[in-house]
Amino acid sequence: MCGIVGYIGKRQAAPILIDGLKKLEYRGYDSAGIAVRDGSDNAEVVKAVGRLKNLEEKTDDGASVHGCCGIGHTRWATHGGPSQTNAHPHVSGNCTGSASGTVLSEVVGVHNGIIENYQELKEKLIKNGYEFYSDTDTEVAIKLIDYYYKKYKVGPIDALAKTMVRVRGSYALEVMFADYPDEIYVARKDSPMIIGVNDGETYVASDVPAILNHTKNVYYIGNNEMGRLLPGKAEFYDLNGDIIEKELVEIKFSAESAERGGFEHFMMKEIHEQPAAIRNTIGSLVTNGRLDLAKIGIEEEVISSFTGITIVACGSAWHVGMAAQYVIEDIARVPVRVELASEFRYRNPLLDPNNLVIVISQSGETADTLAALREAKSRGNKTLAIVNVVGSSIAREADYVIYTVAGPEISVATTKAYSCQLVVSFLLAMEFALVRGQIDKETYDSYLSEVSRIPDCIQKILDDKERIQWFAAKIANSKDVFFIGRGIDYAIGLEGSLKLKEISYIHSEAYAAGELKHGTISLIEDGTLVIGVLCQDGLYEKTVSNMVECKSRGAYLMALAPYGKYDVEDIADFVTYVPKMDPHFIGSLAVVPLQLLGYYVSVARGLDVDKPRNLAKSVTVE
Ligand code: F6R
Repeated sequence: MCGIVGYIGKRQAAPILIDGLKKLEYRGYDSAGIAVRDGSDNAEVVKAVGRLKNLEEKTDDGASVHGCCGIGHTRWATHGGPSQTNAHPHVSGNCTGSASGTVLSEVVGVHNGIIENYQELKEKLIKNGYEFYSDTDTEVAIKLIDYYYKKYKVGPIDALAKTMVRVRGSYALEVMFADYPDEIYVARKDSPMIIGVNDGETYVASDVPAILNHTKNVYYIGNNEMGRLLPGKAEFYDLNGDIIEKELVEIKFSAESAERGGFEHFMMKEIHEQPAAIRNTIGSLVTNGRLDLAKIGIEEEVISSFTGITIVACGSAWHVGMAAQYVIEDIARVPVRVELASEFRYRNPLLDPNNLVIVISQSGETADTLAALREAKSRGNKTLAIVNVVGSSIAREADYVIYTVAGPEISVATTKAYSCQLVVSFLLAMEFALVRGQIDKETYDSYLSEVSRIPDCIQKILDDKERIQWFAAKIANSKDVFFIGRGIDYAIGLEGSLKLKEISYIHSEAYAAGELKHGTISLIEDGTLVIGVLCQDGLYEKTVSNMVECKSRGAYLMALAPYGKYDVEDIADFVTYVPKMDPHFIGSLAVVPLQLLGYYVSVARGLDVDKPRNLAKSVTVE
């Protein structure tokens, strides 16, 4: 969601800013803009609605905008629709129209997040003589900074601090002051932002891929902190204006890991990266045949003492929670509740203080999941985060963190991060079971050897992907698709259904197979595609009979089953097989053909696979 970049150094800023924004395109946006300063000249602001190529055209790929200090933004509309006027950067001056061109303004800035009390602040500023040209909360924030800067005749850090105390909401703010050429100021609360430095140059980004080509040395700016950025160096301040010492952190990702690497789309590349990502994740967590909890800082007493688990997440990460619930309850015999983070935060949840709260998030920045984590912490619960992005807010705030080692995930539709999260949940289930005396070491070892087979088995599925491609082309014009399954198969169906709908725009739902006849079966008509996930041994016959019920009402059937279950070909119109595996873990295999199906249907329909409409990669607003 929205992207921020910044540059200050010895080179022309505009091409670097535009290149950085391109690397953040995957996050979703509807307009973009940059502001660049040439020494003490006024900032030049250029904005464009739509794709970044419009901004590139307006600036001659950045060449027509001069100066070595600049800020940039891709906007995903929240307050005020997508338009050139609402696009960032915003300025403190009372300009009208598009607010583009060379602007005579004290403060120019960009912002990610939401200022919740912007209406009240806007009224205050209007009373003080400010005029507004856009509908955005960002313009309010920039004018508020300007107001404090002038009223109290303070420096940029004090003006920012006063603003931060006054605004409610989330923000990553990046600002230039007319009186301070060659400096950029930043402030952050609950919205990601990193500062990279390298040999006389300083970069700002809301996400790592934007700066990976330039530097791997970054500072993580914390909540309620501010920064003063100069060429090649950065100073950080708390709300009192006191200096904060920070260490430079080296990012482990390579620049290539955020490139498409010969694949047509990031999603396909990331689907193919799953075997390696899972192998790396297992490798980083398992030592001497055991999940190394000491490395994560969890003592065995914590595991022995909790009375239940609450898993909180959004979207696909919530689907991981749904699958994990079955696995943990069955193996470790601990009660598990799975909560949607967006609901959890507002319903005064009855959270047993002895529950371990597990939050799952690829980005580590999802606003609802972060809020749920804070809710759990404020009640004194122990929290464990399963996160992909190192140094993200959720990773920093949870009591314990397990990192998935998926590498940067660029495609909006998650695949490899989901798969790594699922595998982490298996390892946790096994470890909880062993520590709590529910299984012996022999069973643990046999589970671990099954989990270790997952990467190779996924590779086998990928090697045979053309079959799915053929089927996807056949069903690409479907109107409705239903996924059915029981137990873990249902949880996998939820993810398969989301993959399909989010990138192909075909209506799709997943049902616990037995539920269909309680209402939804009335939607089945001639040719409606029903996909049965049939990977749970004990539930196979039951779901097959639900598929037969659909077939007798005209449904067109696809079945997803382990090798050996060939009798399903008697009823299904198309069958795809996955290698046999312990049913607790086979979901890791079953999801892959469904990811491929979603991908190929989207391609067959000519859609933007990696950047589906209306969606953002990291949902940092509620
Ligand atoms: C769907 C998808 C989303 C995310 C959800 C949570 O493909 O990627 O449903 O799973 O927005 O995001 P994170 O995991 O970053 O908290």
